[in-house]
Amino acid sequence: MNRVLIVCEYVQSYVYNEPFNAEPPRSALVSSYVTPVELFFKRNHGPIPLVDDIERYCVDINGLIETPKKLYFRDIRMLPKYNVTATLQCAGNRRTAMSITRKVKGVGWNVSAIGNAVWGGAKLADILELIGVPKLTSSTQSGGKHIEFVSIDKCEEENGGPYKASIPLSQATNPEADVLLAYEMNGEPLNRDHGYPLRVIVPGVIGARSVKWLDSINIIAEECQGFFMQKDYKMFPPSVDWGNISWNTRKPQMDFPVQSVICSLEDAQSIKPGKVRISGYAVSGGCRGIERVDVSIDGGKTWREATRFQKTGTPYIADGISNDKWAWVLFELTVDIPQSTEIIAKAVDSAANVQPEKVQDIWNLRGILNTSWHRVHVRIGHSNM
Ligand code: MTE
Repeated sequence: MNRVLIVCEYVQSYVYNEPFNAEPPRSALVSSYVTPVELFFKRNHGPIPLVDDIERYCVDINGLIETPKKLYFRDIRMLPKYNVTATLQCAGNRRTAMSITRKVKGVGWNVSAIGNAVWGGAKLADILELIGVPKLTSSTQSGGKHIEFVSIDKCEEENGGPYKASIPLSQATNPEADVLLAYEMNGEPLNRDHGYPLRVIVPGVIGARSVKWLDSINIIAEECQGFFMQKDYKMFPPSVDWGNISWNTRKPQMDFPVQSVICSLEDAQSIKPGKVRISGYAVSGGCRGIERVDVSIDGGKTWREATRFQKTGTPYIADGISNDKWAWVLFELTVDIPQSTEIIAKAVDSAANVQPEKVQDIWNLRGILNTSWHRVHVRIGHSNM
């Protein structure tokens, strides 16, 4: 594997030439509620940087504020620490299936560009308060309305510039939105792939906004003008193609819609006739819980409700106070399957949003947010299930 060595200030990049992207097998996702770090998908637009001098590492906070500030890692560690269990989903999850109906542009993902982790770190709302921006602010006195996160890694799409994204100031300063500058994943220091030493976690929002390897934070008037906010990760209608696209007609995608996937069965799998356990994940963005997961074992003619759960011993109720409000729910249903058939899952979130039936209806040229009913075909035959 080709590697390059770049040395600059506190960052020593010892990196793969290719951006590294990987997802686990779907069955791994339902083997635990919290996804182990080694099974968590990885999505990178550029080579992975290596920060090797943690003493000199700092985040510069600039822009429309009175006094710019440098926050060292130790300063961030001294702030109150929060653990937030949140599901991170790449907007491109299930892109490969969308591309089958009509070709889309982008890295091909099966159904596992998603994972659920316990992120530990400081709340962005606390950090902004330190520099004089009070909680629940939507505009600073000098007109700052957005918080831009700029990374250390450099991407081709940004013409060699850093990866960046922004969120509204109102979300950044809302402690209930749980936006973190995270230094831990599942109780361990973040590893390099996931953004060591510090990354942003924006719960309920597509993964693209959770910037890894944070370098600086800018308080700005308009949303970030970077490639991944303005020329990518936007949802266009099926009528828009590369010949007639006008990027500025759409907003950058933020919250992700309701999604569910069957993980216990592969498509075209052979099974023995009899009882079959169907399980998977369901999740919705914007802090919406999962109200229901419907499963059909006859190609969508009839439906049964699956059991939903997060933590063992605590019943899951959509939007209940004991839930992890930013995390997926796992679902399961054990049914008799006497013959070869198509099994389908569709989830309903707490705002009664339902997954769309057909991928064609939500087809978009970048292949984002394929949340169409998830289907697997099973054949009765010999299997070791
Ligand atoms: N941050 C930086 N700096 N560079 C990136 O390429 N990729 C984004 C986001 N943050 C990215 C980034 C995308 S598209 C996703 S889906 C998530 O990181 C993936 O996070 P993970 O690799 O920790 O799973």
